[in-house]
Amino acid sequence: LQVDKGHYRHYMAKEIHEQPEVVGRTLAHYLDLASGTVRLPFAFDFDARALSRVTISACGTAFYAGLLARYWLERFARLSVDIDIASEFRYREAPLPERGLMIVVSQSGETADTLAALRYARAHGQHVLSIVNVETSTIARESDTVALTLAGPEIGVASTKAFTCQLAVFACLALALGRARGVLTEEREKELVAELIATPGLMAQVLKDEARIEPVARDVARASSVLYLGRGPSYPLALEGALKLKELSYIHAEGYAAGELKHGPIALIDFSIPVVVLAPHDASLEKTVSNLQEVAARGGHLILVGPNSAKVAAAADLAGFIEMPETAAGAFAALVYALPAQLLAYHVSVFMGKDVDQPRNLAKSVTVE
Ligand code: AGP
Repeated sequence: LQVDKGHYRHYMAKEIHEQPEVVGRTLAHYLDLASGTVRLPFAFDFDARALSRVTISACGTAFYAGLLARYWLERFARLSVDIDIASEFRYREAPLPERGLMIVVSQSGETADTLAALRYARAHGQHVLSIVNVETSTIARESDTVALTLAGPEIGVASTKAFTCQLAVFACLALALGRARGVLTEEREKELVAELIATPGLMAQVLKDEARIEPVARDVARASSVLYLGRGPSYPLALEGALKLKELSYIHAEGYAAGELKHGPIALIDFSIPVVVLAPHDASLEKTVSNLQEVAARGGHLILVGPNSAKVAAAADLAGFIEMPETAAGAFAALVYALPAQLLAYHVSVFMGKDVDQPRNLAKSVTVE
């Protein structure tokens, strides 16, 4: 299959810009847009009410999608989640619940560790549901249920559109499980589906204002280390933002849960380390803002990614501000906030003259252990 870059300089840029479309397409596959409810293209062939927990395993960015989905599965489906990276999970000898549900996540569907995690789960009587982007892949073939991400081929080694499509599938799955388990009312489901349906439009809005990210990227490109902070679903997003920056620019970066700051990383704070704070308007905004102020009080180099109301609430000196739409709020804001994290890493890499689509030492699909 021949995929071209269109008018973009890099595949990654094209794939970032495709997100409103491919996330919209993925959502349309899992939702009934007319009634504003979830409608999965497959039936659960396990008893959703009898589940006590879900196990999730994946690698890299796909793992972060799972980590983020944990917040949704716990909140909307009242399912506890055991999640681990596949290279650890496969050897942990984890006891698994009888007739439990295992979800594996993989863009390529060929990642060796994720496949091994799947096979372990199958051997231990789990129903395996895979969220994959390649329908013909080994992981898809060996799963009981396949939930496709309709991202289209992803060429850039750094995963972008596959990630947001994985989030879209997980969001729909969490709502469907919530309904099937009788813990989510139809009214609440409709409110949440409306939020999901709004995300592609919000993504497009963020992409339209891409130029604002360039000065922030030039600033970050001078650093030798960068910290990403987030709370709730923004915590896995902080991990993902740090991974993107590492892969693309070779700048050391770490993601941290904002509330964990004072348990160690706050010792790092000085003006040489940019601190990127992901602060969507969600249930934890107030707490995130207070963590931001802790950084500000120590002379930190703050870059805020959030709505203007967060900037006003922070009332702190900012070295950079990536303004996000006020309406990118609530439980699924992470789908929209993934974009500035991707764009920042992309522009830092371009500015530094790195190989954006093919970073050193990395392979698109890791088929060996
Ligand atoms: C993401 O930017 C990475 N290149 C990498 O972490 C990737 O997500 C991981 O290797 C998993 O790949 P998969 O989704 O194809 O299984």
